[in-house]
Amino acid sequence: MRDKALITSALPYANGEIHLGHVASTYLPADVTTRYLRMKGVEAYFVCASDDYGTPILIQSEREKKTPQEYSAHWNKRDLEDFTALSIDFDLFSRTSSKENAEFVQYVFDKLNKAGHIYHKEIIQYYCTIDKKFLPDRYVQGTCPKCGAKDQYSDLCEKCGSVPEDIIDPKCILCGQTPIMKPTKHYFFHLKQFAKPLESWLDSNTNLQSDIKKYVKNWIKEGLVDWDVTRDITWGVPIPLSDAAGKVFYGWFDNHLAYISTTTKLLSERGIDGQEFWNSADIYHFIGKDIVYHHYLFLPAIRMGIDSEYKLPDYIPTRGHLSLQSKKISKSRNWYIGLRDFLKAYPADYLRFYLLFITPYSQDDLNFDLDDFAARINSELIGNLGNFVNRSLGFAVRTFGGIIPEPAHHDSRDEEAREEITQIAGEIDAHMALHHTDRALKRLIKFSASFNQYFQYKEPWKDREAARSCIFYSANAVHSIALALYPFMPNAAGRIWRQLGIKQEITSKSWNQLSTISIKPGHKLGDVYPLFKKVDMDDIERQKTALKEH
Ligand code: 2FM
Ligand code: ZN
Repeated sequence: MRDKALITSALPYANGEIHLGHVASTYLPADVTTRYLRMKGVEAYFVCASDDYGTPILIQSEREKKTPQEYSAHWNKRDLEDFTALSIDFDLFSRTSSKENAEFVQYVFDKLNKAGHIYHKEIIQYYCTIDKKFLPDRYVQGTCPKCGAKDQYSDLCEKCGSVPEDIIDPKCILCGQTPIMKPTKHYFFHLKQFAKPLESWLDSNTNLQSDIKKYVKNWIKEGLVDWDVTRDITWGVPIPLSDAAGKVFYGWFDNHLAYISTTTKLLSERGIDGQEFWNSADIYHFIGKDIVYHHYLFLPAIRMGIDSEYKLPDYIPTRGHLSLQSKKISKSRNWYIGLRDFLKAYPADYLRFYLLFITPYSQDDLNFDLDDFAARINSELIGNLGNFVNRSLGFAVRTFGGIIPEPAHHDSRDEEAREEITQIAGEIDAHMALHHTDRALKRLIKFSASFNQYFQYKEPWKDREAARSCIFYSANAVHSIALALYPFMPNAAGRIWRQLGIKQEITSKSWNQLSTISIKPGHKLGDVYPLFKKVDMDDIERQKTALKEH
């Protein structure tokens, strides 16, 4: 682990609200990792941006009679509000359409071009003679030649998942007329040239998930295809060549470059040299498994193509897809829950807890189930962790006036409790070092369960003398719980912290205090009250009924 880190999450398209499916694999694990690294003393920054370009965004803005600038600005603002409500705490949430990104993208293209990694050729594209424009990607609908599904886009058949470029009976989505085929000059990134260096990089980077590396290497073996990085549309970063007027870059050429341009923008505002920082930091790109190709091949190849001026990622933590009530999430079928709506009904910490609890560090898919959500919150979070914190601190207030007693009559069970406290940080570290945020959280829950048993065993209500050591170690366990919980549930951790009566900010305490006996005899607790409110099962039923597919 380096003492600097730069963390990114896949950039959300500025094209609709953030929903539960987005946050599980990408934003939450990244936010937890950033908070954790900071507590470990790492200088860590977490950046993101809205992904503003692309034909779907242009088309939707045209439908809504807005400029694409206005349309994407709306979603950029809205996304940031929703992320903030979930305590996803970016240092900067920028836009791929920012001036800084456009400049960087053009700089990168120019450098790639001079180094011989770009070539151009004529291709045949759909062209609408009524609308007088080329029709890339989503501008054309027709019948999928593979599965026969009607009304599919030429860049994606939603039924069979193929990319049916030779769609049957193509129609312009703007005017409904059949387009003609017309030649146009496009620029290509020579991805094939990078097959060998990509393979060596995949071999040498032992931090990447090995199962993913395996199939990415297989893609290389099967043969890489050069990337057409041009689009004949008006919305995008202009290609900086005099004979490319009216052409812009494909969104996947510019979007990942915003990882870098957003970082340098943020750091320059803080007087830090962004490039120097980037190259001396651990670089993390958190993604969902649908964009493995882009992050394991395209992104590193482009960085190699500019002489690794900005180094390649150290980690690309990749996680699976979330389904909802065991069905694939789909915005078009209305089978999803918007983040904003969910947070109207339940606290952000509940959602963070549940999603982090069920999301493994693997490509396995996971399922958001409302009954399971209620059960886990009510039993693991409230019945276990919340109960331990409340019963131990509450007892201390009632019996000792909120003053932590001297641990008299220290027995072997107390000794075990002390040992558990001294070991917990290392055990959570071991999981976090391997990106297993779910296991780290589960280890913490086990710790609290074990202290519930300790409390039960000691029966402090029966013997005031035995109660002293029990309350002393329990208060220290609560202190460990607050610190360890902070990356996962920052709000709840802050509340526990205040109940403990500690004046400094929780973040100012470093991780290495987690396994120490920091709460000393004589320490005065703050106000103690129940931390959480149970999830009501009738309310869960209402949530289920409100979910209607169409
Ligand atoms: O798939 C997506 O949702 C893209 N908007 C992700 C972009 S990540 C990139 F910038 F690398
Ligand atoms: Zn048309």
